[in-house]
Amino acid sequence: MIWNDEFETLPREAIESLQFKRLRQTLDRVNATVPFYREHFRKNGVNPDMLKSLDDLRRFPFTYKQDMRDNYPYGLFAVPLDQIVRIHASSGTTGKPTVVGYTRRDIETWSELMARSFVAAGAHQGDVIHNAYGYGLFTGGLGAHYGAEKLGASVIPMSGGNTKKQIMIMQDFGSTVLTCTPSYSLFLAETAAEMGLDMRDFKVRIGIFGAEPWSDKMRDEIQGKCNLTAIDIYGLSEILGPGVAIECHQAQHGLHIWEDHFLPEIIDPETGEVLPDGEKGELVITTITKEGIPLIRYRTRDITRLISEPCICGRTHKRIERLSGRSDDMLIIRGVNVFPSQIESVLITIEGVEPHYQLIVDLDENLDTLEVQVEVNEKTFSDEIKVLQDLSNRIRKEIKDLLGVTCKVRLVEPKSLARSEGKAKRVIDNRPQR
Ligand code: DLL
Repeated sequence: MIWNDEFETLPREAIESLQFKRLRQTLDRVNATVPFYREHFRKNGVNPDMLKSLDDLRRFPFTYKQDMRDNYPYGLFAVPLDQIVRIHASSGTTGKPTVVGYTRRDIETWSELMARSFVAAGAHQGDVIHNAYGYGLFTGGLGAHYGAEKLGASVIPMSGGNTKKQIMIMQDFGSTVLTCTPSYSLFLAETAAEMGLDMRDFKVRIGIFGAEPWSDKMRDEIQGKCNLTAIDIYGLSEILGPGVAIECHQAQHGLHIWEDHFLPEIIDPETGEVLPDGEKGELVITTITKEGIPLIRYRTRDITRLISEPCICGRTHKRIERLSGRSDDMLIIRGVNVFPSQIESVLITIEGVEPHYQLIVDLDENLDTLEVQVEVNEKTFSDEIKVLQDLSNRIRKEIKDLLGVTCKVRLVEPKSLARSEGKAKRVIDNRPQR
């Protein structure tokens, strides 16, 4: 099933002509209403009239997260505050949060895109959607909530936390769809087991997981532990929130990015040059229908590639490949680029360890060091020292073979690493900030 047949299956030419029209309107609007953009365009010697084709977008300058910070809180809004009906913010690691505002029509669009996303994931009216994304300034909770209502499903607004209660509700209310971060789904499964329950016996048949990087191997792990189809959903508050892109359940391969609302580009993060479809780089998104805070060529820092081949589900919108991680999460260990998700994919294939890990990066006499802490399961934990030694040697070797990086492996007790109710914290980088 497709939620919005008319728009989700538009032929390429029609998508592009719609995008061109909407892009042109957006450029005109920000030029007229957002002083930052007027100045940004002027300084870079461009104006909306220079857009003669979609390709001309690359002549326009990028927008960075820093631009949002510099214009904190409302400086990038394109409408007066009395037109804004909702405000969200994403908590940066440092300093002030990034603030976004939605008009009534933006909320409508977001609900529509989340409803599309639910249907792409295989959900429908009649489903009981257990929404464990956090409600609040974070966009996950309310974003999924409005989309679920638009779909006509019964939504349970759980938010994060209170994990035992979540299990009880999921079981008693007969939830059929679970929405939360992938790491939280594993915590839920673990908590169910502690309560003497097995999530595989629950009615949940679809999990819609995102907001943090996860690997295909992690998907297998979750699907096995929870007996559901795990779908990857992507989004970011600056652009919308959840529902920018999602996998379809038919292919479970690549996330359709809703191209009638967003214009994706992949660039080389170093040079800013636009790369052809299929090449890996940084995802840059231009919003072409947002009213509250339209963004031109926003640097997401997320690394992926565009898949333009047709999809078996019939949707014509391009897909982005499962995200490798953020360029600012990429660790440079003695000159080698390492994404935490690459280490995750090694750990998950190894018998005896659990999918709970943390990477500790430090500096020792001016050399980067990487320690991989990973939980072992109960059985392995009670094994002899020799078995544990072999296991850690094996992990070290596999990481070295895949990434060319030597690390220290520390096997830790089951359930000793902190569990997260939202985005998992995988990396602790103790090196001085450069
Ligand atoms: O995480 C919105 C969201 C909520 C997406 C619920 C999906 C589900 P922010 O807090 O602004 O918004 O964080 C956005 O999270 O730039 C990515 O780096 C990361 N991210 C989001 N989805 C995925 C995903 C929400 N499926 C940032 N895979 C983004 C990998 C993801 N990373």
